[in-house]
Amino acid sequence: MADIKLIHGDCIEKMKDIPDNSIDMVMTSPPYDNLRDYGKDFTGWGEHVWKPVLEGIFRVLKDGGVCVWVVGDATINGSETGTSFRQALYWMEIGGNLHDTMIYSKGGQGATGSIYGYWQDFEYMFVFTKCKLKTFNPIEDRKNATKPRVREESQGHRHANGDTKCKRIITRKEFGRRFNIWQYHEAGTRTKHPAVFPEKLAHDHIISWSNENDTILDPFMGSGTTGVACIDLNRDFIGIELDEGYFKIAEDRIQEYQSQGRLF
Ligand SMILES: C[S@@+](CC[C@H](N)C(=O)[O-])C[C@H]1O[C@@H](n2cnc3c(N)ncnc32)[C@H](O)[C@@H]1O
Repeated sequence: MADIKLIHGDCIEKMKDIPDNSIDMVMTSPPYDNLRDYGKDFTGWGEHVWKPVLEGIFRVLKDGGVCVWVVGDATINGSETGTSFRQALYWMEIGGNLHDTMIYSKGGQGATGSIYGYWQDFEYMFVFTKCKLKTFNPIEDRKNATKPRVREESQGHRHANGDTKCKRIITRKEFGRRFNIWQYHEAGTRTKHPAVFPEKLAHDHIISWSNENDTILDPFMGSGTTGVACIDLNRDFIGIELDEGYFKIAEDRIQEYQSQGRLF
């Protein structure tokens, strides 16, 4: 059974209690600029916060570990802030790698924006790594075109009929590896938290970049979605949340899942 540890407080401070190189994977979504007010303990968001957070994550991650950082930018005076990119570049500056820039597409559900541009319909899912990636369990649920194809291949010698080519029938598996744009129509589970990501999104990343019994950290736990996915997938979980009200929501939700069982 998964070992679950929930911590109330500021993740910059609380991560200091986590030993170096002890976390297999971080699955998280930080505040997006200052788009939302996260309650009385929240003192705003800026590089004075996200830089030390990324440094802390880099320290606690094991070599080969992954941090999935789900994020979007605010639009201020008609322009995007670009904070997401600054964060990705900072991860590289402190010694990490940008393994993949994946997209969380909302498929038209929950699109936002203004009349001066196209509707904003996605967020980034940066896959950060520390050293060479240690775990990748690809999800293969993309339907391939299954009609067999005939390919002509040169054999390097001439057949009796004078032909140098032979015909080969190419078949494919019914399902192949996913592309790196993932679409989730359903929003996150309705809780009193304003910015919940879909359980399936956390679930799919945790399967991809970790193994059973690994330890997963979410320093911005919110309503505890990453924790719920960890229970389902038998991973140990450490969640940190600053706001007392959201912390309570996460605690109750995780307790409920622990007694109820599987998500999917
Ligand atoms: C985008 S939400 C995460 C939502 C979460 N993924 C979920 O599905 O519920 C970001 C969370 O980070 C919390 N937060 C902001 N600053 C923090 C800090 N310094 N330490 C810990 N949590 C913080 C906010 O209170 C908020 O709940």
